[in-house]
Amino acid sequence: MNFLSECKTIAVLTSGGDAPGMNSAIRAVVRFAIAKGIRPLGVRRGFNGLIHRDIFEMSIRTVSDIVARGGTILYTARSPEFAAEGGPEKAAERCREVKIDGVVVIGGDGSIKGAKKLNDSGIPCVCLPGTIDNDIACSEYSIGFDTAINTATTMIDKIRDTAQSHDRCSVIEVMGRRCGNIAVQTGVASGATAILVPEYSFDFEKDVIERLFFTQKIGKRHFIIVVSEGLVHVDKMTKEITARTGIDSRATILGHVQRGGSPTARDRIVASEMGCHAVEVLSEGNGGKVIAIKNNKTVDIKIEEAITAEKPFDMKLYKKALQISI
Ligand code: F6P
Repeated sequence: MNFLSECKTIAVLTSGGDAPGMNSAIRAVVRFAIAKGIRPLGVRRGFNGLIHRDIFEMSIRTVSDIVARGGTILYTARSPEFAAEGGPEKAAERCREVKIDGVVVIGGDGSIKGAKKLNDSGIPCVCLPGTIDNDIACSEYSIGFDTAINTATTMIDKIRDTAQSHDRCSVIEVMGRRCGNIAVQTGVASGATAILVPEYSFDFEKDVIERLFFTQKIGKRHFIIVVSEGLVHVDKMTKEITARTGIDSRATILGHVQRGGSPTARDRIVASEMGCHAVEVLSEGNGGKVIAIKNNKTVDIKIEEAITAEKPFDMKLYKKALQISI
């Protein structure tokens, strides 16, 4: 079927954890669709909104003033109802009732898997990778990552000031959900003495205690340790560091601050480009795609490929970080 000749309505939704830049993507989808003569609809709270028909008309003005706003004006959710048996079919049925011919899904890994199920149920879907974790295997980059690492780095800079004043060791937990990308990049950017990530099986004695002693011996007086969430109990580890080394230590969990805030220029630009590309793909009659960054270019790839690919961890950068942060 030629999508453009037969259909004129696409819906956009955000799903899973929010990420800065999602609003820029929504804006691009809506305005690019209108420019192509396609009617854009907004769906609130992800796949939940499809199932419950929480769907509304969007216009050029409903996306005014959002390019620089964090969060998502469409709200977001993780939907157990959609994930349950029969959920995707129910959502597809609602789409047909409301005459939605294609859906742009903005979200992470789980959202892409959800989009595949909706696509398999007969509603063409195109996904934009949107997650601060940058763990979508098929794309070098996902919307929100740059803002998150900049926020985390700014926070760690502030912690460094006080760690330096007191000759302390600061242990900082960053987000990432089983993926060390945020940790390694913020670790490099903030000159962390040690970085603990799930991709490297660390030894507390060698990678933390010995490193602290070694860098202390060559003149270091304050220390930053960046830890990816879920790896260790940071409070307990911090106490252990004080007990073992005598260095006064404090723990900070950065938490959801990393998910909020105005998106960086990079996130706004990538989101805008991906949003337009998604509409382009749908308007050409091609569902079942993920918009990705490959070799710094915006491309579209098959959703099946996207969910089976494996994301390599930047071990070279990780090793370099440790060589220079002494
Ligand atoms: O996937 C984004 C993310 O922020 C992860 O880094 C983190 O593990 C998770 O979401 C936290 O989810 P929630 O919003 O449910 O606390």
